[in-house]
Amino acid sequence: MNAYRITLGAALAATLSCSATAAEVEVLHWWTSGGEAKSVAELKKMMEAQGDTWKDFAVAGGGGESAMTVLKSRVVSGNPPTAAQIKGPSIQEWGDEGVLANLDTVAEANNWDELLPEVVAEAMKYDEQYVAVPVNVHRVNWMWANPSVFEQAGVEIPTTWDEFFAAADKIKAAGFVPVAHGGQPWQDATTFETVVLGVGGADFYRQAFVDLDPAALNSPTMVQSLEIFKRIKDYTDEGAPGRDWNLATAMVINGKAAMQFMGDWAKGEFAAAGLTPGKDYVCAPAPATGEAFTFNIDSFVMFQLSGDEAGEGQQHLATTIMSPEFQELFNLNKGSIPARLDVSLEKFDDCAKTSNEDFVASAEGATLVPSMAHGMSTFSSVQGAIYDAVTQYYNASDISAEDAAKSLVSSVQAAQ
Ligand code: GAL
Repeated sequence: MNAYRITLGAALAATLSCSATAAEVEVLHWWTSGGEAKSVAELKKMMEAQGDTWKDFAVAGGGGESAMTVLKSRVVSGNPPTAAQIKGPSIQEWGDEGVLANLDTVAEANNWDELLPEVVAEAMKYDEQYVAVPVNVHRVNWMWANPSVFEQAGVEIPTTWDEFFAAADKIKAAGFVPVAHGGQPWQDATTFETVVLGVGGADFYRQAFVDLDPAALNSPTMVQSLEIFKRIKDYTDEGAPGRDWNLATAMVINGKAAMQFMGDWAKGEFAAAGLTPGKDYVCAPAPATGEAFTFNIDSFVMFQLSGDEAGEGQQHLATTIMSPEFQELFNLNKGSIPARLDVSLEKFDDCAKTSNEDFVASAEGATLVPSMAHGMSTFSSVQGAIYDAVTQYYNASDISAEDAAKSLVSSVQAAQ
């Protein structure tokens, strides 16, 4: 495997040193937190080392909602950037618009079909042609814990929802915030989907968030999930509404809070703070989710642009992103695992190794599911409808779980 990597590295160096022109690349992304910014800076550095010019198009806002709004207006006005962070079924929506560049030449020359797991390769294609390049695989159903807070409260890291509530009561009594949360729709949805996975299991999750089956969306299992999700709110603090996710992570880092439900981009924050997993913080699958895995694959699409320079820049960007060197360095900072299965995890920590093992095991055991909250399971209109129903219920004092389940069905149907 190492020899393979070296060959590819040499091939990349050869491609790059032969590249005729340096190009300017304007890249839209929403990676502005400490860990995220460090990660994307590695891409900038690698592009600049090849002589290309990086024009940063960062639009702040976790989960990327604001970035998508800005991107749409740029594309509509006929002035798309070189590349943009687009993922999941949204790639198909942009493909339908006829604005994406075809990356098949670079994909074929660099063997992407063989290097990428099937679930990743499929997500990168529109009409069987590569239009996107993957940077990573994030796992969403994680819980990040501060072991010192748990110790001071005299409780263990919970593995079931019953254990979670018992521990949360003691943590609260000991004067800590049990759950660091940011009350923004995408963060509410992130916690909610994790609860659904734990309560209903992977098959139920798929029925609800992939098949959008009304019988699952309005079922006793969904009602139970909604109830648990709402109960969690009692264990968050008053500052939660509107809080950015990385500030919630900071509460776990500085010992104000015991835990956070968040994807492993949170690990990027712990890493940027110089903390060590297993010692200063703990990563554990969220209660009852075990080795099941909600995946969130970040990727970049390239837009059709006129002129040779744009094409050159896109080729450099795509080749660089898929290089083993980039996949390693970027993901060490970002908290995710490389999208390419052949990149060695030797330098990665135990959380990444667990993520990788569970990614492979869950694919085999059919418990690998796409993250609804991160745009992997549905088109953006349906995702938005679920966000609305979930957030409204979470914030209201007069909506029952039964009514919220009904409203999930009607909102999803209206958005389809
Ligand atoms: C996700 C994205 C991650 C992470 C997170 C918070 O949607 O896939 O890479 O950055 O948002 O911004």
